[in-house]
Amino acid sequence: MPVLQPIMTSRRAILQSLCGGLAAAGLRAQTPAGAGMDRLLNLFDFETDAHTRISHGAWERISGAAADEITLRWNREAYDHIRLKPRILIDVSKLDTRVKLFGQELPFPILLAPTGGQKFIHPEGELAAARGAAAASATYVISSSASMRVEDIARTATGPVWFQLYVQRDRGFTKDLVQRAEDSGCRALCVTVDSPTFGARNREDRAKGELPERELPNLKGKDYLDPTLTWKDIDWLRSFARKPVLLKGVLNPDDAATAVTAGVAGIIVSNHGARNLDTVPATIDALPLVVEKVAGRVPVLVDGGIRRGTDIVKALALGATAVQIGRPYLWGLGVAGADGVTRVVQILRKEFEMAMALMGRPTLASIDRTVLW
Ligand SMILES: Cc1cc2nc3c(=O)[nH]c(=O)nc-3n(C[C@H](O)[C@H](O)[C@H](O)COP(=O)(O)O)c2cc1C
Repeated sequence: MPVLQPIMTSRRAILQSLCGGLAAAGLRAQTPAGAGMDRLLNLFDFETDAHTRISHGAWERISGAAADEITLRWNREAYDHIRLKPRILIDVSKLDTRVKLFGQELPFPILLAPTGGQKFIHPEGELAAARGAAAASATYVISSSASMRVEDIARTATGPVWFQLYVQRDRGFTKDLVQRAEDSGCRALCVTVDSPTFGARNREDRAKGELPERELPNLKGKDYLDPTLTWKDIDWLRSFARKPVLLKGVLNPDDAATAVTAGVAGIIVSNHGARNLDTVPATIDALPLVVEKVAGRVPVLVDGGIRRGTDIVKALALGATAVQIGRPYLWGLGVAGADGVTRVVQILRKEFEMAMALMGRPTLASIDRTVLW
């Protein structure tokens, strides 16, 4: 498969998103959306640019985390501290980044993590994000707390979609929601299991008054987390789900072992982007312990702090099958709607390919512990 192609941006597409109703979203763009996107070379450039365009309330909501944001920092720092060990003189003219997940072939191991309330960032919200993901050939995980209906998002997405589930107290409603997601074409179900309640999101809460009431068309009421959720509910879910059930939000290796015994199809090592319980470890530090317990029985995905292609190499080296990104594609959405999302994924994909080539690892299988110094 050809690699290291330049990232192409359609000027027309940028112009279209430029006219895309920024004012309607109450965004504070001084420059048109997407203008000069070519100058944004990495995900941190998107973060800086998005900050100037997204309203203060929405910015605090997406960038804030729990309490003192210690885990938020760790999620990044842990990657920075891992050193790589390249090999030389290996033919890397052809790179193969394909990965199989639940019968689906992904061209590269990056998915878009579920994040709710995307209309706060762009007037087209989840529709734009799903379109942007599809244009980059990435799988988009639709959040239960999306600001649009799962059916509408799935219909707009021309690429593969999964569904993230917050189990509702009303189990009949939950079953119906799962079936709606499955009927809409969602290929996997990620049950979020790290949220019996919200975390102490001080930054977000301080700015809450600046945002309109959240739209939650897929959920029953505003108080949508269920603290009674247990392993029994996972069994119940598996009894009727027609798609693979993954647990999202596993950190403790013992929970990972229980999850595999309970028959889940996959595990997502996540600390909810550091938004729930502060001072839990960085996900990249939890990953190898979870992988050890899972022992290859199901795929293990990881999210939290992934911003560079080298981060993906490190996650795969420590046993992840694929990674998810959250905030970075929201920055892309804020910068230029669907095109911004596409561009963020393309940049990360290209960085990952560069890293593989520079590491002398032309296939995903060749990315193992030996890539770590
Ligand atoms: C604004 C925002 C909203 C989120 N909403 C959800 C959600 O509805 N469901 C969920 O399981 N995770 C949610 N997450 C967590 C993400 O799925 C993911 O775990 C996290 O963003 C990954 O970390 P990163 O942002 O550092 O890439 C949200 C994260 C953010 C930043």
